Amino acid sequence: MSSKDTEIKNYWNERADKAFAQDLNPQATTDDVYLRNLEISTLKKAILELQGKQLQVLDVGCGDGFTTIEISSLPNVAHVVGVDYSESMIKSAMKRKISGDLSNIDFLQGDVNEIDLLFSKKFDIIISNRCLINLTSWEMQQGALKKIHSLLSNNGAYFATENFLGGQLNLNNLRGQLGLNEIPIRWHNLYYNESDYLDYANSLFKGVDIINFSSTYYYISRGVYSKYCLETGEDISYHHALHKIAVEFPTIGDFSPIKFVKHFR
Ligand SMILES: C[S@@+](CC[C@H](N)C(=O)[O-])C[C@H]1O[C@@H](n2cnc3c(N)ncnc32)[C@H](O)[C@@H]1O
Repeated sequence: MSSKDTEIKNYWNERADKAFAQDLNPQATTDDVYLRNLEISTLKKAILELQGKQLQVLDVGCGDGFTTIEISSLPNVAHVVGVDYSESMIKSAMKRKISGDLSNIDFLQGDVNEIDLLFSKKFDIIISNRCLINLTSWEMQQGALKKIHSLLSNNGAYFATENFLGGQLNLNNLRGQLGLNEIPIRWHNLYYNESDYLDYANSLFKGVDIINFSSTYYYISRGVYSKYCLETGEDISYHHALHKIAVEFPTIGDFSPIKFVKHFR
């Protein structure tokens, strides 16, 4: 592991430890809790649309298990395994599992860069929610995508919620027009370039579809609401009512870095 990879892992361990000490604060993996609700509802809809029953699911980079547990309650899901390289995230996920008395979930510590070595079985669905953006090079991201592909059963689906440069650029252009500061990419993230991603993903999977599920959410929360805060001097809060209602609007445009990508094997 490079020193940057170690720093990133430490960052996630520290976030998990802090949230654990706050009685499993649900903000261990993101401060933007309404965005995560939107991610979860988008993911659930995609899983429910699949034909199979008794689906076996793998969640790579599962964090504290918040989303993993939501998925495990779906009627067509038989079992979910959540894997994360952060021992502290897995400790929190185990605590959530025990508190909820959940029998169809397992959590284990493991690295997505070696995910193929952890399992001998195949999965019907693999999900990654903002996990592969923590890998420090496009080569590592490609390696992880290849391993995810190798663990999918025939006709299996990989559902990725990951970040892309195009939406980030459009968002910052919008913010510039509104007199708002650029939002930088965080130090521990590497966003995909859309066309490189599509070229590579299409070489592995038979169908790849990028969905702008959070564009309106970003337009309202990072455009309208940020401008409102600038004009009024109000402090920005992820819990503001505008974040809450932004989730309810239909999606338009391409103003969010976060995309939902469906891949079929
Ligand atoms: C932004 S959090 C998202 C967690 C969870 N998927 C969610 O949606 O709440 C990213 C997670 O990916 C994990 N992660 C990052 N790099 C990883 C790697 N190489 N292998 C396994 N997990 C990794 C981190 O520990 C962290 O829990």
